[in-house]
Amino acid sequence: MSTDASSLSPSITSMIRLDHMHVLAASHRYHASTPWWRKRAIVNGVCDALEIHAQLEEEIFYPALDRALDSDETLKKSRPEHDQMRATIAKLRAMGPENAAYDGLFFQLIREVAHHVADEETVLLPDAERMLKNELQPLGAAMTRRRMQLLGERPMDIAVNAAGTFPIATLLLGSTILLAIRHCLPRSRRAGRGRS
Ligand SMILES: [Fe+2]
Ligand SMILES: [Fe+2]
Repeated sequence: MSTDASSLSPSITSMIRLDHMHVLAASHRYHASTPWWRKRAIVNGVCDALEIHAQLEEEIFYPALDRALDSDETLKKSRPEHDQMRATIAKLRAMGPENAAYDGLFFQLIREVAHHVADEETVLLPDAERMLKNELQPLGAAMTRRRMQLLGERPMDIAVNAAGTFPIATLLLGSTILLAIRHCLPRSRRAGRGRS
């Protein structure tokens, strides 16, 4: 990728913080008295956004940190915590908002996420900003490209839910980056890709 293109990107740590903020803000719209159809929309949006966010971290952010930090306890428990979150999401998806346990399970998910986010924001993101100074923007650009792919792979209604939960500024910036990358790629590489 061109250095010019990735230098336009927000840093990966800013994107992660924005994702956290928006998932937690979306969860605050959920109350026990919220109508069932709105509960389902909020839960679907939050779960889709969390699944994509966790996958992006596991594919792009955690491996970069793994290379920079020799052995870090917080990083080691991050993937198992994602798995725990996925298990709770699977249980939520298997029941509807009419189920008496639905509210409690969603609040349990948010507590798990809040605990995990606190560890990332107090330990892993500051570590990344110290150890990966020159990689933060290229990693942010890689995260945007992968996010667009993952959103594109999901059915339209799910993609809309997830997109609504992600910070719109991040998505808009992401689109700008993709256009910039396309603009900066040498014409020959684009032509070569078109023939393959
Ligand atoms: Fe995480
Ligand atoms: Fe995270």
